Amino acid sequence: MASSAPVPGWLRVPDDANALAPLVWPSTAARDDAGRLVIAGVDAASLVAEYGTPLHVVDEADARARASQIRRAFDDAAAAIGTTVTVYYAGKAFLSGAIVHWVTEEGLAVDVCTGGELAVALAAGADPARIGFHGNNKSVAEIERAVEAGVGTIVIDSEIEIERVADAAARAGRVQPVRLRVNSGVHASTHEFLATAHEDQKFGVPLASAVELGTRIRSHPSLDLIGLHCHIGSQIFDAAGFAESAERLLGAHAELSKTGPVPELNLGGGFGIAYTSADEPSPIEEIAQAIAAAVATGCREHGIPVPKLAFEPGRSIIGPAGVTLYTVGTTKPVPIEGGVRRYVSIDGGMSDNARTALYGAEYSARIASRVSTAAPALVRVAGKHCESGDIVVDAEYLPGDVAPGDLLAVPATGAYCWSLASNYNHVPRPPVIAVRDGVARVIVHGETEQQLLARDAVLAASDLSNDRPMEGNPA
Ligand code: LLP
Repeated sequence: MASSAPVPGWLRVPDDANALAPLVWPSTAARDDAGRLVIAGVDAASLVAEYGTPLHVVDEADARARASQIRRAFDDAAAAIGTTVTVYYAGKAFLSGAIVHWVTEEGLAVDVCTGGELAVALAAGADPARIGFHGNNKSVAEIERAVEAGVGTIVIDSEIEIERVADAAARAGRVQPVRLRVNSGVHASTHEFLATAHEDQKFGVPLASAVELGTRIRSHPSLDLIGLHCHIGSQIFDAAGFAESAERLLGAHAELSKTGPVPELNLGGGFGIAYTSADEPSPIEEIAQAIAAAVATGCREHGIPVPKLAFEPGRSIIGPAGVTLYTVGTTKPVPIEGGVRRYVSIDGGMSDNARTALYGAEYSARIASRVSTAAPALVRVAGKHCESGDIVVDAEYLPGDVAPGDLLAVPATGAYCWSLASNYNHVPRPPVIAVRDGVARVIVHGETEQQLLARDAVLAASDLSNDRPMEGNPA
């Protein structure tokens, strides 16, 4: 979380304010001989020359490698306890046609939570049988569409949804496999988890109702209960919360097993990544093995067979693969307790990365267009929006000569940045460029000012021939 202190306790003055911390940057990120940031063999300055700033860049090989590493980690952990696993990529982190291709080619299934995400996954050719459909308020139309598409599992989130999904499946003449989302009462975040008795939140049904509602699901011939689901939070660095949650769910799972098969257990996503050099998530292999061990122990205690497992990572696959490039517009010194902080204002902000403003998320930054030997200076990277909370990087040390015209790169922006983007202040959303083996390609087009104006019913009816091209990202 961003701190109210002038400098967060974890932030150290770096020996080299040009260095790229290995865990925070995509695996192919490096500096070329001229000191420019290069990702997957493509230098940031030439990307910007072609596509403008702000610019979302995704390292395809990095994303694919993480997808396959995570799938293998869970495959191996499941095999070690005599079962198998389905790893769904959680599309809410960032979904586009290219991403669906990458993750499905790496052997992952796809988790969607709206009709829109479902439409992207289907249009990209994802196998419907390997799509999971979530949401605490799916419309009847969304449910019907999912059932008709042959979606592999629908996650029932409330009592009311049981009848809705059952009716939609009956109308379509199908038996729909479903999971029941349970609120395990475990809430986890980066460094800790709280195993509260009651959790006041909108997702899932209370653990105490799981057996009753699971039984109710079974009473519908058009539904096939394949198991329970829970998701305990996001940006979690170790296995303890997952293990606690698995233990709790297995009680209800074991009860339901007495009256019928419960072949699967889905423990959700939430595996954390490094946003700054202070973040040290446990390796995914360790987390996967610890969760599997907890499941095996729980099953032994309840005298039930080990179910097939499912997980839904999003951030840990796409987050570290993304970097956002900006151009520095202004800098200004601002006196703070004990010194000075330089505000470095960039040409994007909370419209392309809302996470700092929304959650107090912490990011890091580097000058992308050059290296500098100037002494490190404390900076805050601010956006261009008309709001004082429009901060992208709360605190960082950059070379003290950072100046207008420098390109700035913010790493670990692959998850929940593009997907949470907005048009606040009528700022068009930037494109997304995938880089791989020295080649760059657009995977999501940027918006133009003309497109924004065209959505305005009154302006669209008037003559727009005077439109000036946008600054920054060209059409
Ligand atoms: N499964 C379910 C049911 C979820 O609700 C989520 C995330 C995931 C999987 C994927 O979690 P991940 O592995 O990506 O942490 N906008 C927030 C994060 C919201 C997460 C919502 N649910 C952020 O930017 O931190």
